[in-house]
Parts: sequence; C-alpha cells; structure tokens
Amino acid sequence: MACRVVTVTSFKGGVGKSTVAANIALMWAIAGKKTLLVDCDFRMRSLDVLLGLENEVVHDSGDVLSGKVVLEKAIIPYPGNRDLLFLPAPFNFKNGIDKKAFSDMLEEAKEKYQLDYVVLDTPGSSGEEFSAAASASELAYIVATHSFPSIRAAECTGRELEEMGVADRKLIINMFDTSGRDVDKKPSVVDIIDKTALCLGGIIPYDSGLILMQDKGELIDKSEGLNVYKAFLNIRQRAEGRNVPLFTGFRGINRKKLLNY
Ligand SMILES: Nc1ncnc2c1ncn2[C@@H]1O[C@H](COP(=O)(O)OP(=O)(O)OP(=O)(O)O)[C@@H](O)[C@H]1O
Ligand SMILES: [Mg+2]
Repeated sequence: MACRVVTVTSFKGGVGKSTVAANIALMWAIAGKKTLLVDCDFRMRSLDVLLGLENEVVHDSGDVLSGKVVLEKAIIPYPGNRDLLFLPAPFNFKNGIDKKAFSDMLEEAKEKYQLDYVVLDTPGSSGEEFSAAASASELAYIVATHSFPSIRAAECTGRELEEMGVADRKLIINMFDTSGRDVDKKPSVVDIIDKTALCLGGIIPYDSGLILMQDKGELIDKSEGLNVYKAFLNIRQRAEGRNVPLFTGFRGINRKKLLNY
C-alpha cells in the first residue's frame, strides 16, 4: 500500500485539530498501520504533551530541517503502540519553513520507516505550516466544532485547500453535542455540511473525559467502550472506503433526534 499523507487542519484555533490528529493516527496504528504523527505547529507545539512525551523530546523537526541532526534522532516511538511514531515540532521557530525541505523530510521518513500513514497536525491559521502540510497531503480533514463561527472557518479552509489542489477534503465535526438538548438552537448536521460544502468524514462527540485523558498524557486507546472511541473508529473505517452510518456504535443517543428526521 502506498503511504497516505493526511493533514488535520482548520483556520480556527482550539477546535480539536491536535486531538483529532493524535487519535486518528493512533487508530491507524491500532489497525497495524505504521503511522507517523507530525506536529506542524512550529510556534506552539502541543502534541508531545497530548502523547505524554513532553519529557522525551530532545530534538525536533526544526533540527532535522536545519541539518543539525538526522531524522532518526528526532522521531520518538509512542510507548502505547509500536506502530505509532511521533515527530515533535520546534518551539518558536523563526527560520521560515522550506516547503521542499519539509516534503523531502516526509519522503525520507516514509522510506526509512516503511510508513502506511503520515498525519500532519497544523496550527489554527493559514500560515506557512498550513501551506507546507497541505502541499504534501492528498487528504485533508477539516475540523469544525458544533458552532457557527467554526463552520465559517471550515468553509474558508476547504476553499483554500481546493485552490491548492488537495483533492480529498473531509469535514470532521468535533465536540458535537449528542445530548439532544436545544437541537433547534444549534446548527444541524445538514446545516454544517451545507454551509461548509464539504463531505462528512465523521462526527466526534463532546466528551469531558477527553480533556482529563489529555491532562494525563493519554490517548483514547484505553477507552474502547466510549462513544468518542467509536467515532474515531468510524472515521478510520470510512477512510478505508467502508460505508459506515453516522453514530455507528454510539450508546445512549437518540440518533433520530440528532439527525432531525
Ligand atoms: N471531542 C472533544 N470533547 C471534549 N473536549 C475536546 C474534544 N476535542 C478537543 N477537546 C478539548 O479542546 C481543547 C482544544 O483541543 P486541541 O488542542 O486539540 O485543539 P486545536 O485545534 O489543536 O488547538 P490549537 O488551534 O491551539 O492548536 C483541549 O482542551 C481538548 O482537550
Ligand atoms: Mg493544536
């Protein structure tokens, strides 16, 4: 199988890009796919914290790009799954990102580690990290939350990606309120798809447990029973070409009410 490079992005901050990138990368690793997760936030990295690897980072992609160290010195294996590898971002990088050097670095990683997937986590803006990541990717997951301003940001992000030639663009609705309260005051799934003009890749429920997991540096691998785990599983299966209805495997939800039919 040829390696697929996937960008997780949105021009809006705080919508859950890093959460989605880390957990979708983990889902691929759980399926036995060799996956490299790359933090592309070159100013304020966060994935090392989410993965519980904050104290393991010695070198980063900035050191690799500047020729200070070889790639192998910067890549860290994720202790919870041997098929997941992590490449941290530099802090407050000021050198400017050379797109060609960035894409050469990914090519080298693909070959050296026999990767099946590369997952790129971008910051919440349309800067050079976005541009370097998008130009190296064939699939983009655009993350929006269950709110109107982030839907607008997803629409703009999708348009920019289209102009850049990223053919496969999928919307991920994160922090979706599955309680069914105030459904008439919130954007419906159809509203969101209509406004963003994007195909839906998946819906991830709001789960305060995720925040607690992240505080402990854990991903969702120990939470198989949760709806949020099923949400990531569904996204992975759709990416593999399977037809997976929305909310498959979710417990305790009123599907009819949430989808408004
Ligand atoms: N489905 C969810 N349910 C509950 N909380 C969530 C969910 N997804 C993300 N969060 C929380 O939202 C916050 C922002 O998430 P995250 O850091 O992944 O966003 P981001 O888009 O990467 O932010 P930035 O733009 O700063 O990089 C975190 O505290 C995270 O735990
Ligand atoms: Mg982030």
